[in-house]
Amino acid sequence: MKLSLLHLLCVVWTMMGTMILLLDCELSGRALGCTEDERIGLLNLKAAFKFPNPSWHADHQDCCRWKEIKCSNVANTMRVTELHLNDTIEQMPFYLDASWSLNASLFLPLDELQVLDLSLNGLAGFTNTLRLKNLRSLNLSGNDLKQVPNLDGLPSLTKIFLSFNRLEDLNHLKGLKLETLDLSGNYQSFSQDELSIIWNMTSLKYLSINWNELNDSIFEGK
Ligand SMILES: *[C@@H]1O[C@H](CO)[C@@H](O)[C@H](O)[C@H]1NC(C)=O
Ligand SMILES: *[C@@H]1O[C@H](CO)[C@@H](O)[C@H](O)[C@H]1NC(C)=O
Ligand SMILES: *[C@@H]1O[C@H](CO)[C@@H](O)[C@H](O)[C@H]1NC(C)=O
Ligand SMILES: *[C@@H]1O[C@H](CO)[C@@H](O)[C@H](O)[C@H]1NC(C)=O
Ligand SMILES: *[C@@H]1O[C@H](CO)[C@@H](O)[C@H](O)[C@H]1NC(C)=O
Repeated sequence: MKLSLLHLLCVVWTMMGTMILLLDCELSGRALGCTEDERIGLLNLKAAFKFPNPSWHADHQDCCRWKEIKCSNVANTMRVTELHLNDTIEQMPFYLDASWSLNASLFLPLDELQVLDLSLNGLAGFTNTLRLKNLRSLNLSGNDLKQVPNLDGLPSLTKIFLSFNRLEDLNHLKGLKLETLDLSGNYQSFSQDELSIIWNMTSLKYLSINWNELNDSIFEGK
């Protein structure tokens, strides 16, 4: 009797062990974190922004747990789908020209990115073209842009926020199928030609263009 009870316990114990083992395999098979390429890509971005975010650390394998990042399950793998790098560049003393260009190729490993917030970073533009086939929303508000950057590499883009820059040149908005466009606070008097880029955007549902130097003449010929 005693022997068989012990035997039974033994069997249950083994089964539980196996189950835990199976569970373990299942979880690791489903990839707990982001991909290695994404993790390295994020560390390169961190270096470009020179910011000491302690949660972004090479030793923390699962970058989905890092701050300002959101991952989603894409084809059974956790991938980085949101990245908030707003107000991230380290503060420069006011007497230095703080504006800088970001190497857009640094985003290439994050090719499932849907939402990217780069607002409030003193960005004057990009070197190389942003290429993110799934990006839907891009926030570039509060930077130092004089022209809309080349957005040709963002075929899924529907929302762009460009408020509080120094935009003079809207040409790269031409032909985009945007739904949301925020151009407020650029203190510009955009020419009729540039405004016609906006009027021609039939997909547009939301436009913010306040705090610019516009008057009723923008409606001429409308
Ligand atoms: C960035 O924006 C998010 C909201 O979109 C906000 O919760 C967060 O605090 C901001 N981060 C910084 C550093 O300002
Ligand atoms: C931009 O980033 C890419 C990818 O990391 C790199 O290969 C390239 O050398 C960088 N270009 C510049 C000008 O730093
Ligand atoms: C874009 O960034 C600005 C400045 O950080 C912020 O106020 C605004 O809420 C952001 N917009 C979206 C849609 O996240
Ligand atoms: C806007 O559309 C009109 C009429 O189709 C066209 O003549 C004009 O060139 C377009 N403007 C821009 C900036 O695409
Ligand atoms: C309205 O704006 C246009 C274009 O900037 C300018 O030429 C014109 O003088 C302005 N009209 C008034 C009444 O301010």
